[in-house]
Amino acid sequence: MNAKLDALSAHDVLKLNDLGGYTVPTRGLYPFQWNWDAAITALGWLAAGDEARAWREVERLLEGQWDNGMVPHIVFHGDAETYFPGPEVWGVKHSPSTSAISQPPVLASVMKLLFEEGRDRRLAEEKLAATLPGVIRYHLWFYRDRDPEHTGRVCSYHPWESGMDNSPQWDGPLAGVPPVDAEYVRRDTGLVDPSERPHKYEYDRYIYLVKFFQQNEHDAEVLYRDCPYRVEDISLISILHRGTRDLIALCEEDAAGLGLVNTNGEALFSLKQSLARTEEGVQALWSDELGCFLSRDARANVLLEHVTTAGILPLFAGVASGAQAQRMGGLLEEWLEQAPFGVASTHPASTRFEPKRYWRGPSWLHINWMLAIGCEEYGMSREADQIKQASQKCIEAAGYYEYFNSVTGEGCGGRDFSWTAAMDLYWLNPLESFTASKAATGVVEAS
Ligand code: GLC
Repeated sequence: MNAKLDALSAHDVLKLNDLGGYTVPTRGLYPFQWNWDAAITALGWLAAGDEARAWREVERLLEGQWDNGMVPHIVFHGDAETYFPGPEVWGVKHSPSTSAISQPPVLASVMKLLFEEGRDRRLAEEKLAATLPGVIRYHLWFYRDRDPEHTGRVCSYHPWESGMDNSPQWDGPLAGVPPVDAEYVRRDTGLVDPSERPHKYEYDRYIYLVKFFQQNEHDAEVLYRDCPYRVEDISLISILHRGTRDLIALCEEDAAGLGLVNTNGEALFSLKQSLARTEEGVQALWSDELGCFLSRDARANVLLEHVTTAGILPLFAGVASGAQAQRMGGLLEEWLEQAPFGVASTHPASTRFEPKRYWRGPSWLHINWMLAIGCEEYGMSREADQIKQASQKCIEAAGYYEYFNSVTGEGCGGRDFSWTAAMDLYWLNPLESFTASKAATGVVEAS
C-alpha cells in the first residue's frame, strides 16, 4: 500500500503549513518557525518550483537574528496557545520574539543549493546578496561564543540546540541539570501520543535551562563558564562545519565574478581557521571501539558512548578519514538490516533504542538525506542508495509524518509535516519538472 495515495501531496503539505513567508513544521504541535526545519523546508519550496518562496523562508528566519549573530532555534512570528514554552517563558527582548538558543545550521548548505539550482538567476543573485552577510555573522557567532578556547569543537547548551532533543547521548549530561522549580503545563503530550515524546524528567531539566539562560541575561562568558549543560555535540559540529565549507564556497564563487557581496576578507580568513581547527579537533571524538564519532560532555570531560546518527554526520562534514568512513559505511549497512525504515536515530542494538520515541530510535528523513550525501561523497554509493530506499519506504508506508518507527515504518509524532514533505519533493521523489530544471542548470544528480 502506498500511503501517499490517500494523503495531501507534498506541495499541499507545504501550502497548508505556510503562514505567510514562513512555514510551520506542522500546525498545532509546532506553530512557529524553527531554524533547521525552515532550511530543509526551503528545499521543498525550491523543488516545488517556487524559488521566491524558498528564499522568503530564509529571509523570514533571519528576521529572528540577534545582534551578536545568533540565529535562534525558534522565531515566534505570531501568537499560539498550542506550544510550550512560548515567548513569555524564554523572556527574550527581540522583535520578533525568539528562543535563546540556536539549532544545527544547515542553512548555509541549503542556501548553496538554492543558489546553484535556482533557475531564476537574477532572483538567486539578489537574494544571496541580501542574506549571505547575516549567515556569515551567524557562523562567526558559533565559533566565537561556543568555542572560545578554540578546540575546534563548538558546544551546545541545551538538548534542543542539537535538534535531537532526547537522544540517549544527552542522558548523562542532562543528569547534571537540576529540575525546574515551578509548575508548568506541557502542550505536546495533549497533541500526540505521549509514548512518542520525551518524559517529564527531561522536560523538567529542559525548562530549568531555559530559565537559567534568562537569569544570566544570555551573557556568553557566563554561560560558557556556568551552564550546567555543556556538550560538544558531534552533529552540531558536523553540520556547522559543512555549512562553513559551503559558505566559503559561496563567497569565493561570488568573489570570482558575480560581484554581489562585498566579501569580508577578515571574516573568511577567520572561518577558514575554524575549519582547520575542527578538522583536527574532531578526531578527539572518534571511537575506534565503536567505529563512529561520539559527542562529549565538556563539563565532565567524558565521551558519550552511544552509537547514534549524530556520530555518522562527520561524513556530511567531510572530516572523517577514508578508513573511518569505511567503518561507518559498514556500520550503516548492518544498522539498516536491524531496522529497515530509514536509518534509526539510535543504533537498534543499543539498550536505549526505542523505535518510536522521538530521538531514541525513530528515523528522521532530513538526517537520512545528510547521511546519504556524506556516503556519496566518500564514494559509498551503495550505502547512499540503501539509505535513500529505506527513506522512500517510510513515506510509502505512512506519508508525511514528523518521524517514523524505524522497525515498522509507522508514522509518528506530528502529521502533514513540512520537512518530511520537503525531503520527498527535493530528494526522494522529485517532480519531473524539477529534475528537468536541474538538468538544464547543469546540476548533476548526487544519487
Ligand atoms: C522537535 C525536534 C527538532 C525540530 C522541532 C520542530 O523539537 O526535535 O529537531 O526542529 O521539533 O520540528
